[in-house]
Amino acid sequence: MAPCSPLLLAVALLCAAAAAAAAGGFGGPTARYDRVFSFGDSLTDTGNALHLAATAGGPASRPPYGETFFRRATGRASDGRLVIDFIVEALAVPQPTPYLAGATATGADFRRGVNFAFGGATALDLHFFVSRGLGSFVPVSLRNQTVWFHNVLRLLGSAREQRKTMATSLFLVGEIGVNDYFIGLNENRTVGEVRTFVPHVVGAIRSVITDVISAGAGTVVVPGMIPLGCEPQLLTLYRGSVDAAGYDPESGCITRLNDLAQLHNRELRRMLAGLRRAHPGTAIVYADLYRAVTDIVVSPRAYGAHARTQPPHTVLTIQIPVFPIDSSFLAGFRHMPLDACCGGGGAYNYDDASFCGAAGTAPCADPSEYVSWDGVHYTEAANRLIACSVLEGSHSHAADAPTLSNSSATTEDWLHRIGCV
Ligand SMILES: *[C@@H]1O[C@H](CO)[C@@H](O)[C@H](O)[C@H]1NC(C)=O
Ligand SMILES: *[C@@H]1O[C@H](CO)[C@@H](O)[C@H](O)[C@H]1NC(C)=O
Ligand SMILES: *[C@@H]1O[C@H](CO)[C@@H](O)[C@H](O)[C@H]1NC(C)=O
Repeated sequence: MAPCSPLLLAVALLCAAAAAAAAGGFGGPTARYDRVFSFGDSLTDTGNALHLAATAGGPASRPPYGETFFRRATGRASDGRLVIDFIVEALAVPQPTPYLAGATATGADFRRGVNFAFGGATALDLHFFVSRGLGSFVPVSLRNQTVWFHNVLRLLGSAREQRKTMATSLFLVGEIGVNDYFIGLNENRTVGEVRTFVPHVVGAIRSVITDVISAGAGTVVVPGMIPLGCEPQLLTLYRGSVDAAGYDPESGCITRLNDLAQLHNRELRRMLAGLRRAHPGTAIVYADLYRAVTDIVVSPRAYGAHARTQPPHTVLTIQIPVFPIDSSFLAGFRHMPLDACCGGGGAYNYDDASFCGAAGTAPCADPSEYVSWDGVHYTEAANRLIACSVLEGSHSHAADAPTLSNSSATTEDWLHRIGCV
């Protein structure tokens, strides 16, 4: 950019305006979102499950959860921050109040944004599982979260004020659905049977989105399904019942479980395309968590703080016996990214009977080397990269699909703020 000349008043004013716009002044692009409303499960729960008797004593309520960033357990299912925490930091909006934490309060608590996500939540209601002879983990589905959303909406003032608030908010709907599939898989239902859940799950997500659009939402981000076949918990569950040909040679993940996740994502994206046509006034953004996670799993060395300045091929040519090991150089994800950082040992360091935090388990020395924190949920390091990918929108599939920001300067600003670049 040419330097601003103090001699030419008109040019100087233009330069000042450009600088202010880039910094988010004058109601510029960075001022686009004032708060966040989010729906989901434990990948997004920042404290709701702590407030319900049935789930209050879960693993995320105890150390070593939270050890990396908060230095205490906050109810987040990670060693540190979740994807939503990084998104909130990047957009410089307030941390949304967990709905159940503020349930005794008035609209003031909720005006700064609300998180309805609940650890263990399903997209579908209990009756869906009961009708298939299955049980549900926790008594919270997307329908509960929608009821909570309407409770909040009523506290936000007149209908006009409500719509104004919705229009300046970022909505995050998902990830949600992983628990629905897990309930079936964990009770030995075939992947073929669990695939029949997909249209129901996608339908439940659709109804939340149409609900928030009716309330006036201007921007809705919809994260897709994670690669189920790369989850240490499912890799452990299926160990022995999948033959060598059932694993993806590049990633080591279970192919038919990843196919289930991709089926979910295809149906989700098709549904979103329909909603975009029906609601052209709302930006509906798909976030590709599947790609974001498999990219790290397949090339762990290409990610991490030091990898960007040290191309991966350098790693391969280094002679460890000849050169002293430089630990900062080795930082980044490990070569075996399918193990849990915190667990009870065994293959993938995951054991249902001794989950992270139970007696006899211990977290790894450096969670930032791992994708999976506890075999089910991601580490803070992985969550940061996922958030980077969501904000960058680099994984958007359809050419006409909107991204979160129209301005590359805004996107760069966001990415810088959370250390993506
Ligand atoms: C969720 O909704 C179901 C069905 O309406 C209800 O039985 C359950 O109590 C709700 N759970 C919570 C935590 O509000
Ligand atoms: C699923 O199958 C395995 C192996 O056949 C068995 O050990 C386990 O008890 C079964 N689980 C359920 C919930 O039926
Ligand atoms: C892009 O900018 C145009 C014009 O300012 C605006 O109408 C539209 O909503 C923006 N879209 C997104 C996704 O930011």
